[in-house]
Amino acid sequence: MSLNIQVTRTQHPKEKPDPNHLGFGDFFTDHMFVMNYTEGQGWHDPRIIPYAPISLEPAAMVFHYAQEMFEGMKAYKAPDGRVLLFRPDKNIARANNSNDRLCIPQIPEEDMLQAIKAIVAEDKDWIPEGKATSLYIRPFIIATDAHLGVRPSRTYQFYVILSPVGAYYKEGLNPVKIYVEDEYVRAVKGGMGHVKTGGNYAASIKAQMIAAERGYTQVLWLDGVHRRYIEEVGTMNVFFVIDDEVVTPALNGSILPGVTRDSAICMLKSWGIKVSERQIAIDELFEAAKEGRLREAFGTGTAAVISPIGELNWEGNIAPINGGAIGEISQKLYDNLTGIQLGLIPDTFGWTVE
Ligand code: PLP
Ligand code: COI
Repeated sequence: MSLNIQVTRTQHPKEKPDPNHLGFGDFFTDHMFVMNYTEGQGWHDPRIIPYAPISLEPAAMVFHYAQEMFEGMKAYKAPDGRVLLFRPDKNIARANNSNDRLCIPQIPEEDMLQAIKAIVAEDKDWIPEGKATSLYIRPFIIATDAHLGVRPSRTYQFYVILSPVGAYYKEGLNPVKIYVEDEYVRAVKGGMGHVKTGGNYAASIKAQMIAAERGYTQVLWLDGVHRRYIEEVGTMNVFFVIDDEVVTPALNGSILPGVTRDSAICMLKSWGIKVSERQIAIDELFEAAKEGRLREAFGTGTAAVISPIGELNWEGNIAPINGGAIGEISQKLYDNLTGIQLGLIPDTFGWTVE
């Protein structure tokens, strides 16, 4: 059964931001999608309403115990006017995986897709068309019971908000400097690193701040047990080109299974490039760098798509990568991924959804 979405349009449409100065996540469209959950009743009252503050009890459980999940995806306007989503099925499946880990009720996949399509269609005039711009889609669910005991909430709200965005990092496609984090960890197996929930990001900010004070854009996370194996870079999955092979950490329970990660792996393999998903030790990486075999490094994620790494600092040892310039494979992946996302080149993988 499909959702019967009620629509209330804003009486006060906002002025749209300058597409050349969007940054990331500062502007929001005119409307949002909302749906409630009540135990015994299920998900109900799907609606599109004007984007506005949310009113919640101060005791709402999300504020105290962080029972919440979020997703991140994008809509693009193709030159022929079509509005394209990129692999929304992957984000929706991951959303329900996050829900499962956080004891939040599942949302039927077709309902989540319908909600996302409906709100994007409503505010499609907000999709920016400048270079490297898109409409970022942020679905999220919060626990709303006014209750201070620790248990799953019995009521929830599901929202989808939209933000016209440009580059995630001010560096854009210019390589960023990365500090290898040796004190803090992002996640451990058995925890929540494999799902998207606010607590993971709260846990990461301190390391990011310290790296920034040292002049680094982000951190490279090592595993929480051995403090040796590479996990992710900032809020992105990480790839290295060592000799003629592309390597990325295997999904191990503490790494988020990125949609861009999966797409990059498929694309690289389709080009005949060898890709290994395996454990990579930080000492092995620096050894390869010293021997001149570390040719490229980059992060993958929806927000930045590809973010080249130009330098790594591990306990004061500096590894410059590709002379601080974007590498050939990084550039080719960026061009082809964004080419498909924007409808500029044929989508031979069948990833885009109108
Ligand atoms: N890792 C983390 C921790 C993230 O937050 C994200 C972004 O959502 C990613 C990796 C990349 O995932 P995706 O490519 O699905 O955006
Ligand atoms: C990504 O898309 O790569 C992200 O990590 C999104 C971020 C804003 C949480």
